[in-house]
Amino acid sequence: MPTPLRPPLRLGLAGLGTVGIGVVKIVQTHADLIAARSGRPVVITAVSARDRTKNRDADLSDYAWESDPAALARREDVDVFVEVMGGHEGPARAATEAAIAAGKDVVTANKALLAHHGQALALAAESAGHVIRFEAAVAGGIPVIKALTEGLAGNAMRRVMGVMNGTCNYILTRMQSAGLPYEAVFEEARQLGYLEADPNLDVGGIDAGHKLSLLAAIAFGTRVSFDKVELQGIGSVSIDDIRLADEMGYRIKLLGVAQMTGRGLEQRMTPCLVPTSSPLGQLQGGTNMVVLEGDSVGQIVMRGPGAGEGPTASAVMGDVIDLARGLRLPTFGQPAATLAEPVAAIAAAPCRWYLRMTLQDKPGALAKIATALGEAGISIDQMRQINRDDQEDDDAVVLFVTHKATPADVAHALHSFGATGVLLGQPVAIRIEDV
Ligand code: NAP
Ligand code: HSE
Repeated sequence: MPTPLRPPLRLGLAGLGTVGIGVVKIVQTHADLIAARSGRPVVITAVSARDRTKNRDADLSDYAWESDPAALARREDVDVFVEVMGGHEGPARAATEAAIAAGKDVVTANKALLAHHGQALALAAESAGHVIRFEAAVAGGIPVIKALTEGLAGNAMRRVMGVMNGTCNYILTRMQSAGLPYEAVFEEARQLGYLEADPNLDVGGIDAGHKLSLLAAIAFGTRVSFDKVELQGIGSVSIDDIRLADEMGYRIKLLGVAQMTGRGLEQRMTPCLVPTSSPLGQLQGGTNMVVLEGDSVGQIVMRGPGAGEGPTASAVMGDVIDLARGLRLPTFGQPAATLAEPVAAIAAAPCRWYLRMTLQDKPGALAKIATALGEAGISIDQMRQINRDDQEDDDAVVLFVTHKATPADVAHALHSFGATGVLLGQPVAIRIEDV
C-alpha cells in the first residue's frame, strides 16, 4: 500500500511578475513531481498583484484574488506566504509582517527587505515558531543559502565571495569583449531590459551588497548589517582599466567579499581585479558565481543563473518544498536571537593594488610618485609606463601593481600624490583579490 499523502501545503502568492509567474508555472507543471518529493501536494490558493486585468501568461482562474497582499497573508486557507513583489518598505514589508503575525511561514525572493529588516523579521517569526526562507534572494537559481545553512554547517567559514549581480557582470564582460566604454554598454543593458527600475541598485552595487550582507549573516553568525557593507559601484570602471588589467592577466569584476578578520567583520562589494584564469575571472555575461571557503571543506565554487523567471522560481520552490517536507530551520542558520552584533572591521585586510595615473612626462616624475608610495609604506611589485596613440606628448600613463597594502595606506598615498606636482587628473586604485 502506498503511503497516503498528507494534506496539501497551501500557498498565498503575492506578486505575479517575473518570479511570481515562474512559481505558478512550476506549481502547475510539476504538481505530481512536487507531491511525490514533498509527501503532500503543494497548491496555490490565492494570489495578489496590483493590476487584476493584466494578461499574465498563466492560468490563474483557480486562485482567489486579493488586491491587498496583507489580506492575502492573513487568509485562513494560506499556510505559506510567498512574497515576490519587491521593495524593502511598503506592501512587501507590511504583508510579510502580517503573515508572521497571522502564524504563517514565509518564502521570499526579496533581498532588499531582508537586508534592511531581516533581523527583526527573523526574530518575530522565530519567537512565534515560524520560518522565513529566502533562497531566491541571493544569486537566483544557485542554492547557496542551502549550501551554507545545511551542507557546510559543520564548517567555520573563512571567507565568502561572489559575483552576485548579473547586470554588472554583463556590463563588465561586454566592455571587455567588445572594447566598448561603460556608457555605451550601460545603454545596451537598459535596452535589453537588464537594469532594475532604479539602475543604481545594480550598477551602484546596492543589490549585490544586499545579497552579500545576507550571506555574511549566515556565514559568520552575525546580524544582517547591510549598513556596514563598503559599497562601490562599477560606474567608475574605465575601458582603459579593463584593457590594462587584461594585458596583465586580470579581469575586473564587481566582487563581494565577506570575511571575519582580527579587526572585525569585513564586508565589501567593490570592483576588484581577479586572475583571468580563476573561476571568477572566467565568469561571463549575466551569470553569477559564489565562492565559499570553510575550514574543513576548503573552497567551493557555485556558478549559475542569478536571475530570470525559471531560475528564481526554482529557488522559491526549493524553499516551498522544504517547508512541505517539514524542514524548519532558523532564517539565518541559527536562531536570530543568538546572532552577534557584528563589529565592522575598522580597516579592511591588506591586499595588492592596481594603481593607474597620468603623470607629466618629465625627468623625476616617476621617482616622486615612487617616493610617495614608499613614504606611505607601500612597496611596488610591478611598474609600467603605457604608450598610447591618443596620448599627449607631455603625458605619461603609469601603472603600478603594489605588494599588500591597507586601504588606509593607499588612500594616504593617493592623497600625497597631489603634492608631488607631477600628477595629472585623478589616480585610479582597484583592489587585486586573491581568489
Ligand atoms: P516584477 O516583475 O516587477 O513583479 C512584481 C510583482 O509584484 C508584480 O506582479 C506587481 O503587480 C506586484 N506588486 C507590486 N506592488 C504591489 C502591491 N502594492 N500590491 C500587490 N502586488 C504588487 O518583479 P520580479 O522581477 O518578479 O521580482 C520580485 C522579487 O523577486 C523582488 O524582490 C526581486 O528583487 C526578487 N528577485 C527577482 C529576480 C528576477 O530575476 N526577476 C531574481 C532574484 C530576486 P503588477 O503585475 O500588477 O504590477
Ligand atoms: N538585478 C539583479 C541582477 C537581478 O542583475 O543580478 C537579480 O537579483
